[in-house]
Amino acid sequence: MASSTRNYLHNLFRLFTGSRWLRPLAVSYCVTPACNLHCTYCEDFAQAQEPLPPPLSHEEACHVLRTIRTGTDWLTLTGGEPLLYPDIVHLVQYARRELGFRLNLQTNGALLSQFEPALPHLERLIVSLDSTDPTVLGALAGVPPDTVAAILANVRTYAGRQDEFGYRMIVNAVLTPETLPGIEALLHFCAENNLFLSLSPQSFNNWPRYELLVADAYQEFLQRLLILKRGGAPLLASAAYLRTLAALAPFSCYPLLVPRVLPNGDLLYPCRPIEKSGTAQGGRPANLLDVSSWAEALTLAWAEYGPPPRVCNSCYQQCYIEPSWMQSHPGTLVWELLRYRASRRGGLATFAPG
Ligand SMILES: C[S@@+](CC[C@H](N)C(=O)[O-])C[C@H]1O[C@@H](n2cnc3c(N)ncnc32)[C@H](O)[C@@H]1O
Repeated sequence: MASSTRNYLHNLFRLFTGSRWLRPLAVSYCVTPACNLHCTYCEDFAQAQEPLPPPLSHEEACHVLRTIRTGTDWLTLTGGEPLLYPDIVHLVQYARRELGFRLNLQTNGALLSQFEPALPHLERLIVSLDSTDPTVLGALAGVPPDTVAAILANVRTYAGRQDEFGYRMIVNAVLTPETLPGIEALLHFCAENNLFLSLSPQSFNNWPRYELLVADAYQEFLQRLLILKRGGAPLLASAAYLRTLAALAPFSCYPLLVPRVLPNGDLLYPCRPIEKSGTAQGGRPANLLDVSSWAEALTLAWAEYGPPPRVCNSCYQQCYIEPSWMQSHPGTLVWELLRYRASRRGGLATFAPG
């Protein structure tokens, strides 16, 4: 069974030899396209033109997990909203107990109190929260005040129960023109509640949203984050990532480090933005129900689309930039782990929200 540490070391060698055939550090499996929020910025399944496909049965999803497990031991269960997957507790238990995955659950948090049996199996509980201001949050998530209140209450409650359940809890926020003014308050909230904060700019058609890019406030805020990080703020975002966001410079991207699997078991290759663009560079080359190993799926992908591109200057999402930097700059990773508690405790090397 593959482990992310072995994969990381193996990948160092592959990169040294110029190969882009990299082993995954973590795989994200979107178990269901269904969601109970209506986030205005969401470009995932919320804007799908066709009807959403039904999720896989428990047995089928277990097959998908077994196939992923041949590639890595870190798994993020996401969606849609993963807590809406009909058998999510059993799936989590199977992934942890039978397959030995180290598990992230990425959720909007609204339903957490109904799914406590899943929580002891998690290594990281990642809750998407863009603001602590109920009005801002309600407008962004497109939900009524009682749902907003439930989300905020759940975040506080399950932040306070991290030791009891044994997971580490991370808040993931999207930087938009609407959320930007409140992100520092969100960081304070995280510090008060023993949480880490990760961030990505709002992606619009695979680019950071234009109004952000041209706003002085966005640039100033990124510089401020670097200062807060140096001062010990609980930011789960490397300095390299924050500087890449500020410079908006092309970066070497290695999307095979953090691949994504759709609710029906399709592998997205090489990454969500390229697959969505509909070019000949990417697509859905294999369904994990039809193969029995990660290597088999990747062989099909490589044969159909070739290696992923070398350099990118598109999405600027943390889930792609961060692992790419940490894999290709091991010195940066070591520095981050030694210097910053959040990077160490949050497990920056395998952290790929989004
Ligand atoms: C699509 S959600 C799915 C999982 C779960 N429902 C949740 O809320 O965490 C995964 C993450 O993607 C982020 N996200 C969605 N649309 C985005 C966009 N256009 N740009 C950047 N992040 C986005 C969400 O905020 C969330 O943190």
